[in-house]
Amino acid sequence: LPSHTALGTVPWLRTDHPVVLRNSLDADNVVTIPNGGAQTPNADVTPERTIRDVYEAKTSSKFARYQQEYQASIRDVAAFWNQQALEYLVWDRPFDHVLQGSLEQGNVAWFTGGKLNTAYNAIDRHVQAGKGAQTAILWEGDEPHDVRAVTYDALLAKVAQIANALRAQGVGKGDVVTIYMPMIPELAMTMLACARIGAVHSVVFAGFSAEALAQRVVAADSAVIVTADQGARGGKSIPLKNIVNDALTKMNTNDVVDKVLVWERYFDHDALHPEETEPTYEMQPKDVRMDVLVAAQRPYCPPVSMDAEDNLFILYTSGSTGQPKGVVHTVGGYSLYAAFTTKNTFDLTDGDIFACVADCGWITGHTYVVYGALLNGSTTFMFESTPLYPDTGRYWDMVQRHRITQFYTAPTAIRSLMRYGEDIPHRYDLSSLKVLGSVGEPINPEAWRWYYEEVGRSRCTVVDTYWQTETGGHVISNLPGITPMKPGSCTVPLYGIDAVVLDAVDGHVLEPKDGESTEGVLAIRQPWPGMARTCLGDHERYQLVYTKPYPGYYFTGDSVMRDKDGFFFITGRVDDVLNVSGHRIGTAEVESALVLHPAVSQAAVVGKAHDVKGQGIVGFVTLDVNHEESPELLLELRNQVRSEIGPFAAPDKLYITPSLPMTRSGKIMRRILRKIVAGEVDTLGDTSTLADPSVVDDLIAQVQASE
Ligand code: WTA
Repeated sequence: LPSHTALGTVPWLRTDHPVVLRNSLDADNVVTIPNGGAQTPNADVTPERTIRDVYEAKTSSKFARYQQEYQASIRDVAAFWNQQALEYLVWDRPFDHVLQGSLEQGNVAWFTGGKLNTAYNAIDRHVQAGKGAQTAILWEGDEPHDVRAVTYDALLAKVAQIANALRAQGVGKGDVVTIYMPMIPELAMTMLACARIGAVHSVVFAGFSAEALAQRVVAADSAVIVTADQGARGGKSIPLKNIVNDALTKMNTNDVVDKVLVWERYFDHDALHPEETEPTYEMQPKDVRMDVLVAAQRPYCPPVSMDAEDNLFILYTSGSTGQPKGVVHTVGGYSLYAAFTTKNTFDLTDGDIFACVADCGWITGHTYVVYGALLNGSTTFMFESTPLYPDTGRYWDMVQRHRITQFYTAPTAIRSLMRYGEDIPHRYDLSSLKVLGSVGEPINPEAWRWYYEEVGRSRCTVVDTYWQTETGGHVISNLPGITPMKPGSCTVPLYGIDAVVLDAVDGHVLEPKDGESTEGVLAIRQPWPGMARTCLGDHERYQLVYTKPYPGYYFTGDSVMRDKDGFFFITGRVDDVLNVSGHRIGTAEVESALVLHPAVSQAAVVGKAHDVKGQGIVGFVTLDVNHEESPELLLELRNQVRSEIGPFAAPDKLYITPSLPMTRSGKIMRRILRKIVAGEVDTLGDTSTLADPSVVDDLIAQVQASE
C-alpha cells in the first residue's frame, strides 16, 4: 500500500496543518465569489446588490440541482452513460451492453458490440450537418502572425489524404504509429488520420530526447514514425529530424522501425508539385517525404468502423518505476468522455473559439486540443509557441485577436506571467473570454485570484480541472454557472464520477459527513467511459498500479482533503511521481538516468516546492571510488538527464554526497531527503531505522551550506 505521506506538491496546503489560504481570500468567503458563467455575466451587480447576493441567489439553486443530478448519475452509471453515448456520438452499430466487467477484476469494457469511428465523429458528421465552411482548427505558429485556419471541409480532405498516405506505407488497423512532431495542424491531422483507419497513435512529446523516443518506439513495437524536419519554439529551431535519426541508432533492435515519414515545418501547403522542391533535410534510407506522399493521395478515405473497445491511442506516462507506461485509451469510451467533458466543463456553445494551449505530446493536448472540441463541432485553437514569446503578453494578444472564448492553461504558466504584473493582461481586450481553465496541478490561491481578476476581470468562471492521463478527461471540476468556486479546490466530482476518499491505510471509504473535513487518498468507486483500460503489453502492471492497491476502486495516486462543504483539494502524489511545470516525471526515471553515468554509484531524486514550476527536482548522488566532485561532473550529470529524458526533467540542484540515508535493508529513505530539501529538519520523523543515522546530519549541513 502507498504511504500516507503526501509528497508536498502543495506548499500552501499541507496535510499536517490546517488549510490556510494565503493573502486576501479567506476560506469562508471564497465560496461567494461570483461564478460568471458563460451566459451569466454579473450585469446585475449594482452598488446595492453585492456580488455575493447575486451569486448566491443564482448559483445555489443550480448547484443544488447539480448535486441531485450527480447523485442520480452515480446511482446508475450505466443508465447515465448510455444516454450520453447516444447524445454525443454517432454509432455505426448500436452497442449491446453499456458496461461490462468491474474495477475489481480490472476488465472494464464500455459500449460493447457498438461500432463507430472517432474521426468520423470529429469531422465528417459536422460537414454533413452543413458546417464544412466553419473553422475546425485555428492555428497560431511560433511567430504571432503565422496563422492558419483549417475549415472542416479542408480538415476532412487533409485527414483523408494523410490516412491514405499512411495506408500506402503499410499502416493498417491496430498498428502503432509514433508521432514526434511540432505543434502544427499536421500533428492533429495525423492523429485523426490514424483514428480514421484504426491505427493507434502514440504521440511522443517533442521535448523528449532521442533516448526517450527510442524507448517508447521499441516498447510499442511501432514500425512507423511520423516527424517533421524541425520545430519552432520561442524563435529557435528544434532539430526534430536529427533527434529521430539519433533515436534510430539508439534502438538495440534496429528492425523495429520500417519508415520515417517526414513533414516539413515550413512547407507550402498549397504547392501542387512539392516533389519539384528539394527537401530541407538529408534523406535517410527509411525516410519518406510527407508533403510529396500526401499530395499524391486522393482526398477521400472511408472511415474504418471500429469496435468501441478497440484501441484509439496509447500515451506514455510516468509512474513509480523507471519504465514509462503506455496508457491505452479506447475508441468508444474515450471519445464520449472527451466530448462530454469539453462540452460541460467549458460550457461550450456554437461559435466558441476554444483554446487549450497545451502540447499534443501530453494528454491535455489529446483530449482538449484535438478530440474534445472537434467532437463537439467547435473551433479548436492550436498554439505552437510559449507564453513568453515574443513577449509576456502573447496569450492575451491571441485572446484579443482571435476572440477566444475559453482559455485553458496550467498554473505554472499563470505564475510565470504574474511576475510581470497585471498591466500586461490589462493592455488587451479580453472581453471575449467566458471560461478560464486550469490543469496539471493544484492552482495556488494567489495565481487563481490573478487569473480570475486580472485576466477574467472577475466576470469569467475559473474551472480547476483535476484529472490524469489515465482518466482520459476531467473527473473533478467545477461547472461554469453551476458549481461555486473555491480557489485551490478542484471542487466536486463530475457527473458519473463516483470519487471517494479512502483511508490510506485500511482502504475503507471515508464517507462525507456534514460539516466535517477529511483526508485520505483519492479513488473512484465505479468505472467511467474515459478510464484507461490497460497498459500496453502489461496488464499486470495496470492492475498493480490502479486496481489492486484498493480492490474494487480505481486508485489515482493522489492524496486529497475533502473540506466540510464536500469540496476536494488535491494535496499531492502518494507515489514517487513529480509534477514539474505540469509535466509528470517519475523520480525513478531521473534516478535511472543518473546512475547510467559511469561516475555514479547511487542516486535519489526528490521534489522541492518551486515558486513557478510547482515542483523542482533535487538529486543526490554518491560516486564510485576513483571519481571526484567537479563542476564538469555536475554538468555532465545534468546533461545525462537531458539526453536520457529531456531538458524539462533536468534537476535544479544536484548534491554529490558521501552517502544516502538508507534503511538496513538497503532502501533509500526519500522521505528524509524531501524533508531536508524543504528545510523541515525538525520534523524528520523516525530516523532510527536508518543503517547509519549520522548521514542525516551531514546531509542537512551540506544542503544548508549550499543555500
Ligand atoms: C495532478 C494531467 C490538482 C495530479 C491532466 C494528477 C492536478 C496528475 C490537477 C496527472 C488539478 C492534474 N489539481 N492536481 N486540477 N490536474 N493534477 O497524467 O497529481 O500529466 O494525478 O495529467 O497531475 O498528471 P497527468
